[in-house]
Amino acid sequence: MSAPTAPDAAAWEASLYDWHNDHRLRRQQADIAYWLTVTEEDERLLVLGAGTGRVAVPLAEHRHRSVTAVDASLARLRRMPRAPGLTPVCADMRELPLHGPFDAAVVPYSTLQLLLTAPDRHRALTEAARVLRPGAYIHIDVSGNFDARAATDWHLALAEPCPAAGATVEEWERQTPMSDHVLIEKSFRIGEQVLTEVQERWAYLGSLRTEAALDRAGFDLTGTDHGYGAEASPHRLIHHGRRRH
Ligand SMILES: C[S@@+](CC[C@H](N)C(=O)[O-])C[C@H]1O[C@@H](n2cnc3c(N)ncnc32)[C@H](O)[C@@H]1O
Repeated sequence: MSAPTAPDAAAWEASLYDWHNDHRLRRQQADIAYWLTVTEEDERLLVLGAGTGRVAVPLAEHRHRSVTAVDASLARLRRMPRAPGLTPVCADMRELPLHGPFDAAVVPYSTLQLLLTAPDRHRALTEAARVLRPGAYIHIDVSGNFDARAATDWHLALAEPCPAAGATVEEWERQTPMSDHVLIEKSFRIGEQVLTEVQERWAYLGSLRTEAALDRAGFDLTGTDHGYGAEASPHRLIHHGRRRH
């Protein structure tokens, strides 16, 4: 990739998202094996917040089943490897351009926490209920890690070679706890050159009230467990909701 211009900012963000994950989230690879097991019986899968396909692609490659991978970021979807049965869809999970029916939905890696208000989360869960067949499951991966974040000033969070940039990239980060979410600002740089700047806002687990939210959207909560996070990331919870008939 060449030096960034404004239209390239989204492409840089998507590229650096993968670079970040490669270096910071190695322990989270366990979620892929977990999702394969949880969805073993399901033929038509919906992944909400599929990003660049870290979870959606292996789910599709497993038995070449049908996986619809929804993400709001076209730049991230463009980086998603193609696979038989995999359909990337650029859409807001609060307004799905889909009919279904799907046999199961996976909301991986804290994606629901990117929806900051209860009405937004209700819209997303209601849309999921609309496109899932009766009796189908939604599996929602959330984290309590955000709730405990302390305020920090800008600090160097990561510095690693980045092949797409052809240089070592520095990721600078600042965290600001807010009333119901944490603001995480990131600045990706090569020396003094800023490649792109990103703001993420993650709702606290304590704000989600997932059981009530699932109930209002038409799901029964059938269980909550630590899923793949039991050893490496005990702050993780997986909520399993079954769409009511
Ligand atoms: C934490 S990432 C997870 C990506 C990928 N599943 C993974 O595990 O690496 C959350 C994803 O949700 C997407 N997203 C955030 N809000 C969304 C919305 N309202 N509708 C659809 N996708 C959304 C973001 O673009 C991002 O790619």
